[in-house]
Amino acid sequence: MKPKNPTGIKKGLTNYGDPEFSIYIRKAFAKAMGYADHELERPIVGIINTFSGFNSCHHNFSDLIEAVKRGVLSQGGLPIEFPTISLGEIFTAPTTMMFRNLMAMDTEEMIRAQPMDGVVLMGGCDKTVPAQLMGAVSADRPAICLVAGPMMTGDYQGERLGACTDCRRFWGEYRAGRLDRIQLNEIENRLCSTTGTCMVMGTASTMAAVTEALGMMLPGGAAIPAVMAERRRHAEASGRTIMNMIQNDLRPSKILTPQSFENAMRVLMAIGGSTNAVIHLTAIAKRLGIQLNLTDFDRISDETPVLVNLKPSGRYYMQDLWKAGGIPIVMKELEELLHRDALTVLGTTIGENLTKVPQPPDWQDVVKTKEEPLLTDGGLASLFGNLAPEGAVIKRSAASPHLFAHRGPAVVFCSLEDMHRRIDDPDLPATADSVIVLQNAGPIGGPGMPEAGYLPIPKKLLRAGVKDMVRISDARMSGTAFGTIVLHISPEAAIGGALALVQDGDIIELDVLNKRLQLLVDEEVLAKRRANLVLPEPHFQRGYGKLYVDHVEQAHLGCDFDFL
Ligand code: FES
Repeated sequence: MKPKNPTGIKKGLTNYGDPEFSIYIRKAFAKAMGYADHELERPIVGIINTFSGFNSCHHNFSDLIEAVKRGVLSQGGLPIEFPTISLGEIFTAPTTMMFRNLMAMDTEEMIRAQPMDGVVLMGGCDKTVPAQLMGAVSADRPAICLVAGPMMTGDYQGERLGACTDCRRFWGEYRAGRLDRIQLNEIENRLCSTTGTCMVMGTASTMAAVTEALGMMLPGGAAIPAVMAERRRHAEASGRTIMNMIQNDLRPSKILTPQSFENAMRVLMAIGGSTNAVIHLTAIAKRLGIQLNLTDFDRISDETPVLVNLKPSGRYYMQDLWKAGGIPIVMKELEELLHRDALTVLGTTIGENLTKVPQPPDWQDVVKTKEEPLLTDGGLASLFGNLAPEGAVIKRSAASPHLFAHRGPAVVFCSLEDMHRRIDDPDLPATADSVIVLQNAGPIGGPGMPEAGYLPIPKKLLRAGVKDMVRISDARMSGTAFGTIVLHISPEAAIGGALALVQDGDIIELDVLNKRLQLLVDEEVLAKRRANLVLPEPHFQRGYGKLYVDHVEQAHLGCDFDFL
């Protein structure tokens, strides 16, 4: 007979038509791994190990897993690690975003298919954390996030270096002819000085911070550097905590509510976080039937000052945020704007946790106060208009204020390949006032909505001293990048969005204050262009690529698959 509410090794039996046989044979095979009967009676904690030789950010995982196991064992559980796919941002073509949903499916199905009572989600590099959250939310077993932690900074000629804001800055210097190849090579040697995730407020740091704000990670866990002993102690504590969550049946569906997502959006704005988080939070919430809109992000952004002085919006790095007290200090400063009764993995509320947070030390300059913030408005703004009927986003905190109200003629590239071919052509009809437009780099057109939205400034303008221009696309942008860059235009060009209709010389108006993005071309002309529009061929005819292009949703809906 099938046991009622089975736990541990008896959970989710392999189907041989005889449940008791399934238990017997499963225990026999578990014993092949050296497990004793008394161990197989314990609650089982799955530990998702996303170590990969193609993911430099997760190279501290064997140490962290040992620490998690100690925590689980100390509370009478049985820790068992297992792999899912891993997504190393820099090692995955065409872009990790194309595989976020695959990783979410892998995570969900492996949690559900294997006998575990709870799970520790070990991720870190950009897409891994949202993928794991999406999967864990759908599987809905007790789950806690544990991230790799950020890298330490490097240095070059007395200057601190951080991936990847400084990668891009120095690349710009090299393109402008102000650095030679030998100097660039020296910088390349020093940019990523330890294991861990990018140490600026890029997507990995942002997703770690918003996960903490969602209540799905132990307080303080986002900012502890990857190589610190404190991160191992945090991992051990995560192992103990998941056992408590199992005992109390504390599942993601009990922790994650509209209020906890509002807290996460609030923290996202206060940290000047990555635009990618807009897509990821929307997708995670949608798994719970909670609809986040770009207007929600915009409202919260307008109400929330940027407090965290980290690159690319400010000047410091994640290790400095950790020393100052981490995300709990940020949340303490935001306390009156947060939903204090939102639950966390500890079983306590955000408000209860914040009573234990000390005042930030006097010497620190990393987390600003509400009274004297880094920026009075939040980091992101949502834009709407005839060029983006379903919306677009701009990272206001990393943009140039003198371009917030700008009209300029379009210089259009129909694809990334077209852009690479022509961007540095000395005859390109571009001036500092031009608006650089990239089409067909969205979820379907990219494919995978690559982080190509940080469109390069043409070399001839760089050499003339131009540091920023208005650039627009349906692509994403790395959270580590900066500039007046409009992203996530929805619907995208490849499905016939208005972006596909833009031609060289058309006047585009960006108005950040009034949240508008307009193509100033007569509707009659646009209707004619629309009637003659030829959509690009789909990138894939088989395999995962076909599943992806057939089912991925647009950016404003979170780019999840329509059947998930
Ligand atoms: Fe992994 Fe930046 S490449 S976090």
